[in-house]
Amino acid sequence: MTKSRLKIVVGITGGIAAYKSVGLVRALVLEGHDVDVIATDAALQFVGRPTLEAISRNPVHVGLYDDVAEVRHVALGQQADVVVIAPATANTLANIAHGNAPDLLGNTVLARRGPLVVAPAMHTEMWENPATVSNIALLRERGVVVVGPGSGPLTGDDSGAGRMAEVDEIVAAVHSVVHAEERDLAGKHILISAGGTREPIDPVRFIGNSSSGAMAAELARVALKRGASVTIVASHVEVELPSAATVVSAPTAVDMHREMLAWADKSDVVIMAAAVADYRPSTVAPSKLKKAVWGSTPRIELVQNADVLRELGSRQHDYTLVGFAAETVEDDAEFVREARRKLESKHCDILVSNRVGADRGFGDVATSVMLLRKGTDIIETSAGSKASVAASILQAIIPVPTSP
Ligand code: CTP
Repeated sequence: MTKSRLKIVVGITGGIAAYKSVGLVRALVLEGHDVDVIATDAALQFVGRPTLEAISRNPVHVGLYDDVAEVRHVALGQQADVVVIAPATANTLANIAHGNAPDLLGNTVLARRGPLVVAPAMHTEMWENPATVSNIALLRERGVVVVGPGSGPLTGDDSGAGRMAEVDEIVAAVHSVVHAEERDLAGKHILISAGGTREPIDPVRFIGNSSSGAMAAELARVALKRGASVTIVASHVEVELPSAATVVSAPTAVDMHREMLAWADKSDVVIMAAAVADYRPSTVAPSKLKKAVWGSTPRIELVQNADVLRELGSRQHDYTLVGFAAETVEDDAEFVREARRKLESKHCDILVSNRVGADRGFGDVATSVMLLRKGTDIIETSAGSKASVAASILQAIIPVPTSP
């Protein structure tokens, strides 16, 4: 059964984004949770103790040697259902990655029994520094959930990766880690298409795309963790798919169309994360084409493939339908317009849109997505590793219950 009132420790470290942590504490308190704030001395340079005490409705903990009789340096961590550090500076991340505990927050992290969520915030150079990159990789390896950072204006005149994730994203990450073990999706079946289709020209050549299947694999992992049964209809993928999922091979758009339509009605949620080719060569040569036959300006005639998502949305159905869109447009307004057009024309319940290009969006890289829902103008966003974004997407599709 889901526990409705969680004991949450919010660690605040010394970064300007600390002012946003007041909103995080407030959001968690308003959800009914018991929130203990641990602030470092540096954090208190950015946000005042009285503010944090008023908002959290609890005393703020700072010193390692305050109230030693309560053995607070371990008690807070031991009792917490989850510890969240927002903002997490590069220095704090380095300390946690290496097991250093120079202050009350460090001790609490070491003594905790529950999951740890961190929301890094720093300048782009610090985020991209090899030391930070390897500390983050180490933390992820150990199961720490890293939310964000997003890209955008930073303190000063610069702009880039390093902005602390928004409060909603951090709250969503807290929900998903706390409830991850609760298997709230037991009995549900989730169908996910993955990877990029390959449209054969001859036995060895094809028209393909850069989709790696990484997002689909992460979505499958989160769904399995939450107890769902998962079928992945996979085209060409470059990542390992979770072994607990049923994997159905669908190399081409025609295969994808057949398999998705066959599986959809047995599913509660259908997620079209695959990059399906819109066209395929009209004929497939039976043997490898030779230059002598092709000549110097060969032409390949294409015919249109079925739009799987549109068909899944147009027919009578009970499943929740989620589409994806990959766009190269830079203009924000056009990006939103395009996503809304796809949401409506393909009759999706939710459309997840991201920007892609030669050097972004594909593979195991940080990503940022926008999520639109049928029947509302609200735009939700999520940024971070594909694993954390996948958790927020699934949370948006089927929220984990927060009451008993
Ligand atoms: N899709 C599909 N079948 C196709 C093409 C796309 O099911 N033949 C699905 C994708 O899996 C994705 C969504 O449609 O969930 C949007 O894909 P995208 O390539 O962004 O859209 P297109 O329909 O190709 O639109 P456009 O060419 O206008 O960008």
